[in-house]
Amino acid sequence: MRSIKEYIDLFEKNINSFVPAADHEQSDMREMMLYSLDGGGKRVRPVLCMAFCELCGGRAENALRFAAAVEFIHTYSLIHDDLPCMDNDDIRRGKAASHIRFGEANALLAGDALLTHAFDLIARAAEDGQVSASAVVQAVAVLSRCAGMNGMIGGQYIDLATEGIKVPVDSLYLMDLYKTAALIKAASQLGCIAAGADADKIKNAGEFADKLGLAFQIIDDLLDYEDENASDKVNEKATYPELLGVQEARNLADKYTEQAINSLALFGEHAEVISAFADQLLHRTN
Ligand code: IPE
Ligand code: IPE
Ligand code: MG
Ligand code: MG
Ligand code: MG
Repeated sequence: MRSIKEYIDLFEKNINSFVPAADHEQSDMREMMLYSLDGGGKRVRPVLCMAFCELCGGRAENALRFAAAVEFIHTYSLIHDDLPCMDNDDIRRGKAASHIRFGEANALLAGDALLTHAFDLIARAAEDGQVSASAVVQAVAVLSRCAGMNGMIGGQYIDLATEGIKVPVDSLYLMDLYKTAALIKAASQLGCIAAGADADKIKNAGEFADKLGLAFQIIDDLLDYEDENASDKVNEKATYPELLGVQEARNLADKYTEQAINSLALFGEHAEVISAFADQLLHRTN
């Protein structure tokens, strides 16, 4: 197993090569896609994808395209999340949000292009012999479900529908499981799939990711709660710190992280890299 930093370096070294060149000179699509993909992201999903691949006996290099596919979908979700019709945020990854930089229509298209190209990347992983054709079919099924109406998009729907409403804690659980844990789950399971892992390992990686994803969104909400420039307050978002208070929310994030780590038992001692990463995410400051 490599270190988290090594996974991030490997990913950063390759990310540019995964964005297609435009066939016609007039198009700024590549520039717009790269603008949002570039630097500033923590690369949580690619790290998990490559780490699970190695944990299941594969090579991290062979999971790179799957890792990029999830990061592309995650990045598209952020571009759309920031649009005025959603969270209306001007800053993303430390710089102007895509719609501020390129205009709303182009931001919409940049997001759409990232989403669509994610599946091209997955298909090509088999063409280049990095993974088997059956791994590609499995990966498409997992990623499209996790990104879709019963995954990330479904969670974003609940997030918007519950603005300004006092919802029961249970609704938050489902919302976070969908909007955030689902793509983290796709990343973890695609790593296992790239390595040709069996169904038990894929299932366990999914259980780990559900719990990690819940903790991850609670910490995101806590960080936003403390940031006076964050939009959650203005948008009257339903979040754990808003509903339960800061301490209870933190306790819940601790609990979910512990449960996530416990569900790695099947993977043996090498899972330590991933447990340490889960712990690092729990204590992050951005
Ligand atoms: C932000 O995700 C949106 C959430 C799902 C909480 P990240 O915190 O992973 O964003 P980047 O990729 O590091 O910018
Ligand atoms: C976003 O949650 C989840 C997505 C699926 C994009 P947030 O709206 O809390 O993410 P940030 O705080 O804008 O990064
Ligand atoms: Mg949002
Ligand atoms: Mg947002
Ligand atoms: Mg947030």
